[in-house]
Amino acid sequence: MSQKSWWPNSAIYQVYPRSFQDSNGDGEGDLRGVLARVEYLKSLGVDAVWLSPFYKSPNRDGGYDVADPRDVDPRFGNLDDAKALIEGIHKVGLRIIVDIVPNHFSTDHPWFQEALSSPIGSAARARFHFYDGRGENGEIPPNNWNSIFGGPAWSRTTDKDGRPGQWYLHLFDSTQADLNWENSDVHQDFERTLRFWLDLGVDGFRIDVAHGLAKETILKDHHDPEALTRALRLDVTDMPDSQRAELLSDVPFFDREGVHEIYRSWRKIFDSYPGERISVAEAWVHPSSRAARYVRSDELHQIFNFDFLVAPWSAATLIPAIKRTLLEVAEVSAPPTWVLSNHDSPRLVTRLGGGEDGEWRARAFAQLTHALPGGIYIFQGEELGLSDGELADEVRQDPIFFRTQGRDKGRDGARIPLPWDSSNNFGFTNGKPWLPIPSQWSSKRVIEQDEDSNSSLNFYRESLRIRSEHPALKGSSDYRINWLDAPDGVIAFERHPGFTLFANTTSRELKLVAPPGVSLLLGSRPGVRLEGERLTLPGDSTCWLTKLK
Ligand code: GLC
Ligand code: CA
Repeated sequence: MSQKSWWPNSAIYQVYPRSFQDSNGDGEGDLRGVLARVEYLKSLGVDAVWLSPFYKSPNRDGGYDVADPRDVDPRFGNLDDAKALIEGIHKVGLRIIVDIVPNHFSTDHPWFQEALSSPIGSAARARFHFYDGRGENGEIPPNNWNSIFGGPAWSRTTDKDGRPGQWYLHLFDSTQADLNWENSDVHQDFERTLRFWLDLGVDGFRIDVAHGLAKETILKDHHDPEALTRALRLDVTDMPDSQRAELLSDVPFFDREGVHEIYRSWRKIFDSYPGERISVAEAWVHPSSRAARYVRSDELHQIFNFDFLVAPWSAATLIPAIKRTLLEVAEVSAPPTWVLSNHDSPRLVTRLGGGEDGEWRARAFAQLTHALPGGIYIFQGEELGLSDGELADEVRQDPIFFRTQGRDKGRDGARIPLPWDSSNNFGFTNGKPWLPIPSQWSSKRVIEQDEDSNSSLNFYRESLRIRSEHPALKGSSDYRINWLDAPDGVIAFERHPGFTLFANTTSRELKLVAPPGVSLLLGSRPGVRLEGERLTLPGDSTCWLTKLK
């Protein structure tokens, strides 16, 4: 890895296009809207922008149900808009990463429609997982797997004569048919899609459900599908760790050996393009040591590390999590990554308890994260200190809500459009926003936060600026950190040269002794003070100290 690589220590900002900025008043964000906000993206101090899917899609799962991966959905604009956006982002010196969704196609994709109208055993059906049902009339699904979104993982088709036909596999919504990666058409089509976007100049891909492509033993029942479904759900917390670990260590549709061959062939494509085109895997694997296998030198560049997405703000959890991550990726010489929030999980402030306390904790957690070696991912609105909006069930759109009969409220709360200014609908749209923007967000608008030097937005900018300038943080391929002794509840480490971090994860103010000759670089909340060597850390705060002048 050369010193000049742009990506190992990058800060990458996730745009959820539907909720970023609407440009035509239909109430949904679009690519022209993102383009209109590139100066904002630039002002954050990130290196790159990752866009969630904007491809042709019936939008049953926020565009992760792709009906044409090489075209733009009309709700987001058209291909010219995508080209203009790629160019616009490059013009301000940022890079752009797009999503690729290889585990499934929308059932609206021409391939699936062709499969439906083709006979059993046809080449068109072989691109998906079509099987006869069991039981006398084929009325029992081919196996007992559940969908990650709730309900069975199989849906039955109807033959031309109106009679019930074969079943197809869908690990997610019934409109997301799993692709068969044993089929060469599938390989070729995805290579074409990668090249299509690479030719248009994108700098990389975020690979959706990267651990799901290879399936084994499809015609075998799982010994406890209900428990497996619960184990896969982050919000299920009443399952003993040992039971969860055992179930997750052998999931018949996740993290099978076959996925690695696919990524080795993709890596050759990325490397054949000029500049450094990168890939980051969304892969939930267990035990976490398996993650390093996706970032071996001839496979992908990064894998999201989701430890922080679920971790409490607690030194006792975070210190071992950081140590383990650094050890695991070091074995394959890959850079670590850190993720505090994304479009699939509750917003950070909400997860940390909400309210003012949640906001301070979120800042402290972010400042800790920004000081760690490797790459960081920031979900839109995290920089504004947003919490999940409350939504009435009538406006919800997430398939998880529907497939669980409302037992699980789903992910819409984190997907509410951003509040920009004091015009109509917070400047997001002239029309009716696709999800209502909470009125309490008037204090969170970008326009106010811009002016306020103590705002969350300006805190993120400052923290990212220091991160990109301080010699200890701006990146080398040395991902080690030097841990310091600290009282319970405190995280303390040094990075070379001349950087020290203290994070107080307790709610009590603490007085600590700072190393000699340091000055205060940044505190996550008022009240962080350094007087001589006496360091005052209010509850839930992080501070950065530097020895460099
Ligand atoms: C990934 C996406 C999520 C989507 C799922 C199915 O986990 O992040 O939003 O629902 O894949 O494509
Ligand atoms: Ca629009």
